Amino acid sequence: MTDGVVRATTDDRLDDALDVRREVFVEGQGVPADLERDDYDERAGTIHFVAYDGDRPVGAARLRPAGEGVGKVQRVAVRESDRGQGWGRRLMAALEDAAREAGYDRLELDAQTHAVTFYERLDYEVTSEEVFTDAGIPHLSMAKDL
Ligand code: COA
Repeated sequence: MTDGVVRATTDDRLDDALDVRREVFVEGQGVPADLERDDYDERAGTIHFVAYDGDRPVGAARLRPAGEGVGKVQRVAVRESDRGQGWGRRLMAALEDAAREAGYDRLELDAQTHAVTFYERLDYEVTSEEVFTDAGIPHLSMAKDL
């Protein structure tokens, strides 16, 4: 039995991460499936994470290179019925540990505006002047120095 957040380094774990993302973003938020999955999923340097409550996948996230010393946090998702229990915080902690290990000194992300408070609790700061729309959803850019 797996419990907690792990890197999705096998096909089975990657499938679990992608299932959570599809449920949260495509089915839950109406993001087109061909935007939700992109080339970065397969690229060297991208690290996928999946959170397990026992054997059940409950959350996912992705970290990819975005320039010298900079990593981009993307696709942070917790299944609706599992929210509010610290899974998002644990996913981000595992991702930040991996980012430090990979030599990143700064993380950037585009936060859906409803999630800005979630990231602020984790010490990310808003860096964009204005709200912008991506996949039909309002976003603000945020960043954190590690
Ligand atoms: N508004 C305000 N605060 C929030 C919040 C929200 N929507 N969601 C979480 N928080 C706060 C919690 O209160 C908690 O604060 P505390 O530790 O000081 O008590 C902290 O953030 C961590 O919460 P946690 O339980 O770990 O978050 P979660 O497991 O519910 O996951 C999301 C948060 C955003 C990942 C989850 O709501 C989600 O998957 N949403 C849909 C997908 C999405 O929009 N992802 C973000 C894309 S940018």
